Amino acid sequence: MKTAIIACGPRAVQMGRIVSLLPDFKLTAMSDPHPARREIAFKALPESRFYESTEEMLEKESLDAVLVETPPAQHTKYSLMALEKGLHVLGEIPAVDTYEEAVTLWKAVHAHPELVYMCDATANYGMIARAIAFLKNHDLAGKMVYAEAEYTHGMERTFRPQKNIVEDWRASYSACKYCTHDLGPLLDLMEEGDLYDTVACMGTGRHFPCRWQDHAMVSIYRTRKNAVVRFLASFALYKSGPYHAARVFTDSGMIELYNEKVRLFKPDFSEFCEKPEIVEIPFGHFPMRFALDFPVEKVLAAGGGGHGGADFYALEAFADAILNGKKSPCPIEKGLAMTLPGIFAAESAKEGGVLKKILYPWEEEK
Ligand SMILES: NC(=O)c1ccc[n+]([C@@H]2O[C@H](COP(=O)([O-])OP(=O)(O)OC[C@H]3O[C@@H](n4cnc5c(N)ncnc54)[C@H](O)[C@@H]3O)[C@@H](O)[C@H]2O)c1
Repeated sequence: MKTAIIACGPRAVQMGRIVSLLPDFKLTAMSDPHPARREIAFKALPESRFYESTEEMLEKESLDAVLVETPPAQHTKYSLMALEKGLHVLGEIPAVDTYEEAVTLWKAVHAHPELVYMCDATANYGMIARAIAFLKNHDLAGKMVYAEAEYTHGMERTFRPQKNIVEDWRASYSACKYCTHDLGPLLDLMEEGDLYDTVACMGTGRHFPCRWQDHAMVSIYRTRKNAVVRFLASFALYKSGPYHAARVFTDSGMIELYNEKVRLFKPDFSEFCEKPEIVEIPFGHFPMRFALDFPVEKVLAAGGGGHGGADFYALEAFADAILNGKKSPCPIEKGLAMTLPGIFAAESAKEGGVLKKILYPWEEEK
């Protein structure tokens, strides 16, 4: 599939490296208004053609699919443009930037049933999501009652203003909106059909000279079936990162999820011991089992394996859906179910923590 990547930022280059390794894709073109970003991408991916204007690229190139790797505010614009041109779309997370965009994109995706729109919910292909699926398949998970999740894309060093080529999108982005990696996997521990229903959110504002909007944001969600989730999101706490963690209390035990391991506490295990202890399963250094036969060193060179291999699996699933006429592995509804809670959380934070009802476009129609 002739594939274009919209943007030449770090994420675009990482995905480009993987696209160029996967036999189902042919990396054809990339676009970015910033010459320095195009130059970096050209060094990494010289086989691609490069455009300053995304519009010109979509006009001139003959393509099958696009990957939208711009900052979040442009995800919808380019996903819509690509769908209108008859292209399959791998849309980056967060799927949209506003509720209005969610309505427009949801309608556009359904107006093109012949095209695959997949939300690139990387976390759905990572070890944490795989561990959840394993626990569920073996009836070890239970139903979520209360969870505490955190995403700290933290800072390891004292903040110094950086001379970036392009201002980091995180600087002007409400961290609570970057929630898909954490709220997405938790959807799989919720009751069938459950959704995040209401949210109240507070931000810390700025406490030291780092220009990010809030140094930390905390959202508290209630789901339709009455589970509660507290979610900490931060791009600017002194913590090594990016780091994901979740502690999930279910109706039959407790599950702790970390980047590098899962820990499980099950009172049922007292059948085997007087006092059940926490069972810990460490994930291997590079544990992903590749369906295709890639040399591991090439995979590791492609952006550290692309989120521990998750990016390969997501792209493979995207190609499989397109080439074999399957349903989107992460359809628009799922992408929005994990994106919209953060958008309403940001609205709540703006109003000092007022409780907000989370809306979903498919319910508006009723
Ligand atoms: N799925 C994941 O795990 C994951 C991981 C990291 C980032 N992301 C997402 O990827 C996106 C990009 O992340 P990044 O860290 O590379 O961001 P970045 O801000 O460093 O780079 C974005 C690039 O987009 C370019 N751009 C802006 N407008 C454009 C346009 N009209 N056409 C083409 N390019 C344009 C910018 O010039 C910049 O080079 C973000 O939305 C982020 O949410 C997802």
